[in-house]
Amino acid sequence: EEPAALPRDLEGRRVVVSAGGTAEPLDPVRTLGNRSSGRQGYALARVAAQRGAHVTLVAGSTADLAPPAAVDLVRVRTTEEMRTAVLDAGKGAEVVVMAAAVADFRPLDVAGFKIKKTDAEPEAIRLTRNPDILRELVAEQVPGRLVVGFAAETGDAEHDVLSFGRAKLARKGCDLLVVNAVGAGGDGRHSAFEGSDNEGWLLGADGSSTPLPMGSKAALAARVWDAVGARLS
Ligand code: CTP
Ligand code: CA
Repeated sequence: EEPAALPRDLEGRRVVVSAGGTAEPLDPVRTLGNRSSGRQGYALARVAAQRGAHVTLVAGSTADLAPPAAVDLVRVRTTEEMRTAVLDAGKGAEVVVMAAAVADFRPLDVAGFKIKKTDAEPEAIRLTRNPDILRELVAEQVPGRLVVGFAAETGDAEHDVLSFGRAKLARKGCDLLVVNAVGAGGDGRHSAFEGSDNEGWLLGADGSSTPLPMGSKAALAARVWDAVGARLS
């Protein structure tokens, strides 16, 4: 569903996109990770490159995706690796988009050898917090650089998706937050995760909120870059 003529509004702009999930080692053969496919981040990277940007795509675990043409692909596994790659590439960038599903926690102890099964009950896995890459990017306060976050939300009994999105935008301090409405059932199968379609809102730190209609991840990516392009100086 490529539009006939893509805008070249990102010509020469340097952008960083993170995609996919981070995975945290538990022992040499096991990790704690998530089901992010990386499709939204890949679509963002592909569309930005098509619109003329120099793109660094920092990719964690993904489905078996073909890397977009004409992007610099940096493969990472852990949150710490993603943090280093994103902060590094982000130094010279005018836009950083955190589309990755970053693991909030990692095992406190990583076993040097494969954990063996015995007749005893297994030990509980103790977790510790991971750094928040998005908040670190915001805290760097690079003049003129835009930082875009993503959030997949369901509502709960008292809050709708949009109010969770607003609260997250305020907490993170980024310039734009793409809020994906995760489908009913809460297992993420309906939209946002694994599927090919997305819907939600694009919230701006300036108080703006633009609905993102259900559509392909490429269409959502185009909307995001429209909003970013309009804010670039
Ligand atoms: N993010 C990040 N580093 C983390 C966690 C999240 O950079 N350690 C980024 C994600 O890439 C995304 C945004 O922060 O762009 C929001 O992620 P989300 O998981 O929705 O936010 P959290 O603050 O982790 O809140 P929650 O408790 O809802 O998971
Ligand atoms: Ca999280």
